[in-house]
Order: sequence, then C-alpha cells, then structure tokens
Amino acid sequence: MAGPWITEHEVSVVEDAMRNGWYEHAYDYCEKFQAEFAVYHDRQYGLMTPNCTTAIHLLLAGLGVGPGDEVILPECTWIASGAGVTYQGATPVFADIDPNHWCIDPESVEKLISPKTKAMIVVDLFGNMPDMDALQAVADKHGIFLIEDSAEALGSVYKGTRAGKFGIGSVFSFHRTKTLTCGEGGMLLLDDKELYERCSMLRDHGRRPGGPAYFNEEVTFKYMPFNVQAALAYAQFQRIDELVGKKQEQLNQYREKLSDIDDLQLNPEPEGGINGAWISAVVFGKSHNMSKHKAIEELEKLDIPARPFFYPLSSLPAYGEMIDEYKTRNSIAYDISERGINLPGAANLTGEQIDKVCDGIHRILT
Ligand SMILES: Cc1ncc(COP(=O)(O)O)c(C=O)c1O
Repeated sequence: MAGPWITEHEVSVVEDAMRNGWYEHAYDYCEKFQAEFAVYHDRQYGLMTPNCTTAIHLLLAGLGVGPGDEVILPECTWIASGAGVTYQGATPVFADIDPNHWCIDPESVEKLISPKTKAMIVVDLFGNMPDMDALQAVADKHGIFLIEDSAEALGSVYKGTRAGKFGIGSVFSFHRTKTLTCGEGGMLLLDDKELYERCSMLRDHGRRPGGPAYFNEEVTFKYMPFNVQAALAYAQFQRIDELVGKKQEQLNQYREKLSDIDDLQLNPEPEGGINGAWISAVVFGKSHNMSKHKAIEELEKLDIPARPFFYPLSSLPAYGEMIDEYKTRNSIAYDISERGINLPGAANLTGEQIDKVCDGIHRILT
C-alpha cells in the first residue's frame, strides 16, 4: 500500500549525520532542513517536530487554544488533524466536506461558527486542495485562525501557491507512508515571528533557544527533532521533484486505466493548480452499488490491497459515536466516506501492479 523510495543518497547523508552530527553539530541537519523547507514553501520559519501530530499540537498551544474554545475541522481526515484540539482541552467541531474534492466545505464551516470558535483546521486531503479563498474569507470575516494541515499535500499547488503557505501556520508529515519520509517526522511552518518564538520555546520544555542553561520559563512539551531523522528527511527533500513526480505518475496511470468506467471519481486535478497525489483514491458512483467495505473485501480475494476512505470522525468511538447528531448535518461526508477507497501508492509500485489493481476494479464492478 505505502512505503518509501530510499536511494544511496539518503544512506550517505544519514551516514554523515551518524558519524559527524554530534557535539556542536547535533542539530545541523534539523536546522538546515527547517530553513530550506520553509523557504521552499515561501514561509519565514520552520520548526521540525517528532511527527506531524505534535506539530499541530504545538501550533494550537502556541495560539493559546484551550478549554472553552471550539475548533472546526473536516469530518473526513486522519484523527491526528484534530487530536491536538482535544490535548488542549478544547472542543473539536466537525464540518461537512465538498463532494468534488472531499476537503472541508466553507459553507458548512460558516454555519458552525459560534462565539467560542477560535480556529479552523483545513486539511488538504490526499493532496487535493480545499477552496482556500472561501475558507480564508470565512476566517477573516469571523476573526478566527486558519490552520492548514498540509500533511498529505507535499507538491500540491492551489492557484499558483504551494500547499503549506495558507493560514497562520501549516504542518507537514514525514511519516513512513508519506511522499517524503524519515519514518516519523513533522514540520510546523510559520510567518509570524512572535508565534515562532513562542512555539520554539514550547517545543523544548519552556526553554528559549539560546537562553540560559537549565532555565525553564514554563512547563511545556519536549517535541524536539533528532538530527539523524532530520538528515533522512533532508536527503529526501533534495529529491522532492522525483518523489512527488512518482506519486503523480501513479495517479495519472490509475486515471488513464480506469477512464473507461463511468460514474467513478478519482482525485481531481485542480484548475490552475497541481495535485501532489499522496494517495490515489476512488469514490464509486452510486450506480455501482459498491460500498468501501465490499470493494476492499472483493479486491482482497484478488490479492489486491486497498484501504477505506477515512471514516467520518463523528462516527468513531474516539468521539463517542455522535452519528445521530452529525449524520444528517454532514450528509456528504457520510455518503462519500461509505463509497470510497484508497488505492496502493507505495513508491516501489510497478506498472504491472497498477495494471493488476485497475483490472481488479474492473472485475469487481462488472
Ligand atoms: C491529514 C493528516 N494530518 C496529520 C497527520 C499526522 O501525521 P503524523 O503521523 O506524522 O503525526 C497525518 C498523517 O498520517 C495526516 O494524514
């Protein structure tokens, strides 16, 4: 389903970190990676973290989100998008998604805004981009923060602007399943100097970078990156076009080989934008009468792996199974989620394997 593309380049950079990245060089790769990754995304500051979940948490803490606050996020995303909201004692509120690109719907967000709303976390699902202009307009109108969860959107572009440049801050994931990986890793990107300084302090036990030794201003987190982890991510970053290109090639092959099937939706290629295509997903049109569970089961019989479209978060035990409250309100999310699957997207997937997956989909739909 998923996995990285590691070359001799990564091996030699990691070896360098292992041999030389200690003493006064203990954070060299972290600093280099943070700085260059920020520049690439036209941001002022980057803070590498142990993973993306901690990057989101760090940003929410830096913004002062806490008990009594509400944060709006899409129904269909990985739970990590909103976990930090709960860690901070705030309340997540789930918005419906757009049926065309499956990302958060600005109209649904606007309906959910209350005096308690402090922020919205918008997610670039699978590399698809939401309607950022409309979302930013809602955020501005109501004076709330927009946070971009671009964990899945490396290489995506919205109207000429790279994913990762939207809102007060954005986050990326370098989890082992991601396009650019170091096994576990994350990044917080910011433009605001004060917020950057606050998040830097929160990331390291309440110590100011460069401040006096053993002098903690607050009891906070330990979300520091590790140089060897950063070296691997940095080496992958140097191959970013190649890595993103591989994902886009996979999506194009799926698109081409499934194009003869009517009533089938794959990740859209946005007008004036680019889809980084972290995951190629398929949503079966209603005429196929094919649920995600049935499709996964049928494909498994043909020895083809697939994963379910994200469940609506409000339907999960983690959130107390609030189906009754949310199912009608977020009917599009509940409907799309039921009919969608994620296709294999490992970096070492061969053309023959993609043929096999597409052949399998043809077979289960006829
Ligand atoms: C949309 C989204 N947000 C956040 C995360 C969290 O990333 P990590 O696993 O690096 O903590 C992921 C990763 O799986 C994700 O897909």
